[in-house]
Amino acid sequence: MILPETRLICFSPTLTSLKVGKAIMKGFGAERNTTLDLTRTAQEDEIVLPADLLAVIAVPVYGGKVAPTAFVRLQRIRAQGTPAVLVVVYGNRDYEGALQELDGLARLLGFVPVAAGRPDSHDLEQAAQFGQAVREKLAGVASLSDLPPLQVTRIQRPRQPFLARFRFIREVVRLRRSGKPMPQVPAVDSERCTHCGACVRLCPVGAIAPGDELNTDASICIRCCACVKGCPMEARHFDTPFSQILSSCFPDPKENHTLL
Ligand SMILES: Cc1cc2nc3c(=O)[nH]c(=O)nc-3n(C[C@H](O)[C@H](O)[C@H](O)COP(=O)(O)O)c2cc1C
Ligand code: SF4
Ligand code: SF4
Repeated sequence: MILPETRLICFSPTLTSLKVGKAIMKGFGAERNTTLDLTRTAQEDEIVLPADLLAVIAVPVYGGKVAPTAFVRLQRIRAQGTPAVLVVVYGNRDYEGALQELDGLARLLGFVPVAAGRPDSHDLEQAAQFGQAVREKLAGVASLSDLPPLQVTRIQRPRQPFLARFRFIREVVRLRRSGKPMPQVPAVDSERCTHCGACVRLCPVGAIAPGDELNTDASICIRCCACVKGCPMEARHFDTPFSQILSSCFPDPKENHTLL
């Protein structure tokens, strides 16, 4: 099977899923590469995908699940037996049930998963090699029906040392018991903010109103940190004791794992 086009479908507030997805597309090496970026679009129209392209669906993991905004936005898509590579991108902790969740949704939407991965976002060369391996897998069959169904549960779970998990749970329980207030939105330094509006444009959910950049609507904010990373004045910060616990318990990136 030779597919002339790859379509990256992603939700990527801080651009890692986008970069990983693009590296996979590059490795696959189709004639045409296109991107359907669901990060900042709130359009409701249904998007119909044909069967003769390879979809690369790349989304971040939030709290061990597919980022909920991505989950909702993906539901606009109707695929027609379109082969898909499923990719969950996560930090140093764990992706828990996110890949199974994405697999279930993709099948409901009409995709046929042919490969899945949780590539290491620090090594885009490995992501490209994964794309190349997907191409070789598809080149070896005449049609998708020649492939055995992909079972995402067979993917190797990240190695999670018992001590790190124990420390993480203990620290989270301590933090909850301490009653320390947890920030719900990024803080803004009014001395630094120039009201350039970049954060308004970067926010995937419209939690910052134009002209009112010092405030954030906590009922909408998904705490993705796109505004924090994208503020040219470093005026936005999201410092929670939770991030310190995460980085001390899980300091190292997880190894790359993919399933073909
Ligand atoms: C609200 C939120 C929750 C997150 N939850 C997890 C998690 O459960 N496990 C994990 O390993 N990383 C977690 N992360 C880290 C993201 O998955 C990681 O930074 C990812 O690369 C972000 O993708 P993006 O750059 O495409 O937006 C979380 C990040 C955010 C903002
Ligand atoms: S991006 Fe930064 S400087 Fe610009 S409006 Fe937002 S907070 Fe202010
Ligand atoms: S305001 Fe909240 S949702 Fe919007 S970009 Fe910042 S952290 Fe993300």
